[in-house]
Amino acid sequence: MSVEGKKRVVTTHLLYEMKQRGEKIAMLTVYDYTMARIMDTAGVDIMLVGDSAANVMAGYETTLPITLDQMIYHAQSVVRAVKNPMIVVDMPFGTYQGNSKEAVSNAIRLMKESEADAVKLEGGIEVIESVKRILSAGIPVMGHLGLTPQSILKFGTYSVRAKEKEEAARLIEDAHLLEEAGCFAIVLEKIPATLGKQAAEELKIPMIGIGAGKYVDGQVLVTHDMLGLNKDFSPRFLRRYANMCEDMQKALRHYVKDVKAGDFPNDKEQY
Ligand code: KIV
Repeated sequence: MSVEGKKRVVTTHLLYEMKQRGEKIAMLTVYDYTMARIMDTAGVDIMLVGDSAANVMAGYETTLPITLDQMIYHAQSVVRAVKNPMIVVDMPFGTYQGNSKEAVSNAIRLMKESEADAVKLEGGIEVIESVKRILSAGIPVMGHLGLTPQSILKFGTYSVRAKEKEEAARLIEDAHLLEEAGCFAIVLEKIPATLGKQAAEELKIPMIGIGAGKYVDGQVLVTHDMLGLNKDFSPRFLRRYANMCEDMQKALRHYVKDVKAGDFPNDKEQY
């Protein structure tokens, strides 16, 4: 559901049809009401309330500390703003690994309290029981393979994944498992473009890449990165569409200068 209780336009079925007709899917992250309202007018197909909120909004080094309550708060803020795109919410670290019964009750809570459209969780065979149970409750699930930031402490590096044959074959197997379980799409993060191509060709559901090359069915970026709000992160896959950090700094300095000089407010800006 969406603002005014209307059903949102982008559905799992529409995404499947988009893949069939070769129409690319545009997905971006969002965590708050104001940004979601702006993004709602831009033609984005999927808004991801990513657990990257832990980094972007809260300044943590990894995505691990963010809680279910915090994800629900971000998702509610986005849902209030959005009419058309599908809203997918990340299940945070610790809410679905290990115990599939807990996973389904956490997913139900996330859906009930946020009124989002779907959940995303990271991993393949190791989380398949949770994926199946969540799907059996009627909740659409998006998978996430390749670089899975919730496992960063195990990997120890943010380098490109699945460059070796064995890991690449495992990723393809995991993608098939997720599709057979009933996932409606999979995010592929930081893998070779040729592997992204193979996955997109072999699987019927959309493959949405972030650093997975141009052959996949759609792309996702962290909005604050692509808008140039975060200058500290410059991986090869990131295209910056704006320089908002500098634009904001310029505006903020201008304001401070005007206040200090007694130029703000002027006669027209007072009662
Ligand atoms: O949380 C996030 O921002 C994500 C994207 C990187 C896909 O999962």
